[in-house]
Amino acid sequence: MAGLPDTATLERALDLAARAPSAQNSQPWRWRVSREGVHLYANRSRQLGDTDSDRRDVLLSCGAVLDHCVVAFAAQGWQSRLRRFPGADRDHLALIEVIEAPATEPSRELAVAIPHRRADRRRYRADPIPPGTLELLAVRAARRQATLAVVPASRWARRDDDVVLRYGGDGAGADSPHGDDGVLLVLGTEADDDESRLRAGETLSRLLLSATALGLASCPLTLPLKQIRDRLALAAEVFDGDAYPQALIRLGHAPTDGDPLPAVERLSVADTTSWDSGLR
Ligand SMILES: Cc1cc2nc3c(=O)[nH]c(=O)nc-3n(C[C@H](O)[C@H](O)[C@H](O)COP(=O)(O)O)c2cc1C
Repeated sequence: MAGLPDTATLERALDLAARAPSAQNSQPWRWRVSREGVHLYANRSRQLGDTDSDRRDVLLSCGAVLDHCVVAFAAQGWQSRLRRFPGADRDHLALIEVIEAPATEPSRELAVAIPHRRADRRRYRADPIPPGTLELLAVRAARRQATLAVVPASRWARRDDDVVLRYGGDGAGADSPHGDDGVLLVLGTEADDDESRLRAGETLSRLLLSATALGLASCPLTLPLKQIRDRLALAAEVFDGDAYPQALIRLGHAPTDGDPLPAVERLSVADTTSWDSGLR
């Protein structure tokens, strides 16, 4: 049955969606609930700077919250149809229209993963990633018209809590110790326009939640892509220049010693959401 879920369902979905990762936890989004559905807008006042990579971060983060919201609806028995960039306003990123549909087991698993996912910046354990995992993630990316590739181990290093790429710039010297046992993945898209970036954020969300559901630790990263030269060199090496790197994901096994990572604070649903009159 088409229609809008009740307020409690909507608020639960938006509350769960708010757990989405965003660049420096900027949460650069706004929601509006109308009779048509749930609208997502970029909140430029929360953009971190004015470079192209700052604009990219907004779209990636909004894509991640959009997909988290879709997952949260699906787990509550509401299937989403997305209309991306539905109007003339370029900051009006999506309209989510929902219809009632039984929740599926995969959607429940992903929704259960949402509160457990963290940007895990720690050193990962030495255990190898189970066979098939990277293939599964690559298939999930490909289904969403994105390309996932492994960054060669010689091309990156973990330095303090950050990852640095080693393409000759600030690259930490190609012979310094690797210092980390996870893998670094790069998510690429064929085009580099706003819609591709939004969709890349959606895919990023899906891959991170899949990793959490599989019991793996992960950290999304875009800071290492801010150097245009590194981004281009990475694209040339791993994508033959046919795709644009949008985000990196470090993936591995969380350390067994040490406390679980605490959840990072989020804005409340009330802070980010407006309701058209008569809807609340
Ligand atoms: C588009 C995007 C870019 C990010 N870039 C980085 C990064 O370069 N380095 C980093 O340590 N974390 C990065 N993060 C992770 C965020 O800092 C993290 O999601 C946020 O602080 C909230 O924490 P949580 O994911 O543990 O809930 C990024 C996340 C997103 C969505």
